[in-house]
Amino acid sequence: MAQDPPSRSSAIDFNPLIPPQLDDPYPAYARARREAPVFFTPIFGLWIVTRHDDVCAAAQDTARFSSRVIGIDVPAEVSAVLPAAYHTPSLVNNDPPSHTRLRGLLGRSFAPQRIAHMEPHVRSVAAGLIDAFARDGRVDLMEGFAYELPLRIILEMLGVPLEDGRDMKRWSDDWRTLSTPGLTTDKQLACVESVKAFERYILAAAEHRRREPRDDLLSHVIVAGPGGEPPAGDAELVNLFMQLLFAGHETVTTAIGNAVLLLLSHPEQLAAVREDPGLIPAVVEESLRFEAPTQGMFRTTTEEVELGGVRIPQGARVFLLFGSANRDEAQFEAADTFDVQRRDAGRHLAFGRGLHFCIGASLARLEVRVALEELLGRLPGLRLQPGERQDYVSNLILRNPKHVRVVWDLA
Ligand code: HEM
Repeated sequence: MAQDPPSRSSAIDFNPLIPPQLDDPYPAYARARREAPVFFTPIFGLWIVTRHDDVCAAAQDTARFSSRVIGIDVPAEVSAVLPAAYHTPSLVNNDPPSHTRLRGLLGRSFAPQRIAHMEPHVRSVAAGLIDAFARDGRVDLMEGFAYELPLRIILEMLGVPLEDGRDMKRWSDDWRTLSTPGLTTDKQLACVESVKAFERYILAAAEHRRREPRDDLLSHVIVAGPGGEPPAGDAELVNLFMQLLFAGHETVTTAIGNAVLLLLSHPEQLAAVREDPGLIPAVVEESLRFEAPTQGMFRTTTEEVELGGVRIPQGARVFLLFGSANRDEAQFEAADTFDVQRRDAGRHLAFGRGLHFCIGASLARLEVRVALEELLGRLPGLRLQPGERQDYVSNLILRNPKHVRVVWDLA
């Protein structure tokens, strides 16, 4: 029988933004899966879904679990100058049918064959970044490598020159900051300037591509897609590009950081991988399962729904906790053990499930695999700096290590 909607207190003490859950959220997730697999947390105003089956069911039910996001609450003077693109749904914040049309426009750029052709280039970028510090004997991989590699690749894919990367970074940071509660109006207005600058930049580049199309993502999106779907409108285009910048960058940074940390802190697995580098794709999958870079994503219920025996009211904000689904003992044998030889890692939900399944999954897998291959191949005896403590950035969505300080042997 379904439980009634929540009282104001939560069955589970859920707060991965602060210790001890910031350091290790998984015991709390396990407790939730056992005792309250779908629960309401008053701190975040969210319904948290923790079991693999329930996360899949909700992710596949786009009619009742909508991905559309309602606009942020800003004063009239801010909303008067905020470009419409900021609120315009494109992919991750959209539902069919416009989601289907926009996703179709990206198919060509993300086709697996096209991504596979990028491997030599991704490898040369990774090798170049490593060469820059290889003689130092030590580095924080997050700064010097894990951040830079996906940034360069996504900028190139989008057709943005590398020298504009700094502007992109500032604009995307401000875009994100704008939705942070508690900002002063002055700060909000400053962020709006970045949103406008990004909009001007993308629309000018689009105008240029209309006259002189290239073989880049921007050109692909502004010409009719397969079957002649209409191209994206201006506001959709701007929102879509910002999403691709967010989605295609720090997720991969996080995945590289987590994969290196996990492998280097499991010496027997590291030895097996050194013995057989053919295991590296399995390291990628197992680290995506074990520490899901995107711990969860939001949905909004379009009607009252029952999930995991719990009744969730209409209009509720729901958080699908991929990080917990990936440790669900009902799906994975010895779910809390990091094991690159396991056979069930492929069932992980690190890239989501259903219509919103990560469009960049092939690219992400390629980048993380090549990153590991090049790091292990070029830095002999790669290991964590002695005494390295694993600290994570306080963020509900990304489980992002602050540092991955490593050392290696110099010839
Ligand atoms: C390891 C790295 C990555 C992880 C863990 C990851 C994770 C995810 C997840 C969980 C979703 C589903 C969101 C939902 O259900 O609401 C998603 C969607 C998406 N991802 Fe990724 N992603 C990664 C890399 C990338 C890359 C490299 C790109 C692009 C270059 C990308 C672009 C997208 C886009 C555009 C969507 C939205 C798809 C849609 O709504 O149809 N991601 N990603």
